[in-house]
Amino acid sequence: MKILTHPNKILSARSKPVDIKHITSQKTQKLVADMVKMMLKADGAGLAAPQIGQGLRLAVINTKDGPLIIFNPEITKKSLTKEWGEEGCLSVPGFFGEVRRHKKITCEYFNEKGEKKTIKAEGLLARVIQHETDHLDGILFITKARNLKNVLK
Ligand code: CO
Repeated sequence: MKILTHPNKILSARSKPVDIKHITSQKTQKLVADMVKMMLKADGAGLAAPQIGQGLRLAVINTKDGPLIIFNPEITKKSLTKEWGEEGCLSVPGFFGEVRRHKKITCEYFNEKGEKKTIKAEGLLARVIQHETDHLDGILFITKARNLKNVLK
């Protein structure tokens, strides 16, 4: 399993919802474990399933309290206030740019046990959740970024 890089049609496709009954299956649990491992190894802030070629609405996020696993996330509230902040992406190696995101969000999702959860996030965590949910809609940060630069050049 490897991380797909832009351009790739899986990265620009809308991912399909995960059947909640399948979250606790061995296959899905293995996928989550592999994604967490890859995210940590690559030192990423998050990783979405389409980035490893799985068109599923699933992402893992690196938080100070450990990995946050979100299945079928829906951003249900967004602050009117937005802020610019620098982003990069494991699928667009070397590129960084500023993206304007909602400062605070509420996200409803199912966790790795198949439980419905709600998280209120702001700042960096809110940014990462928005970046990862964009992946599930086939949107890469480079389409929204200003001052995009390639540090590998
Ligand atoms: Co990304």
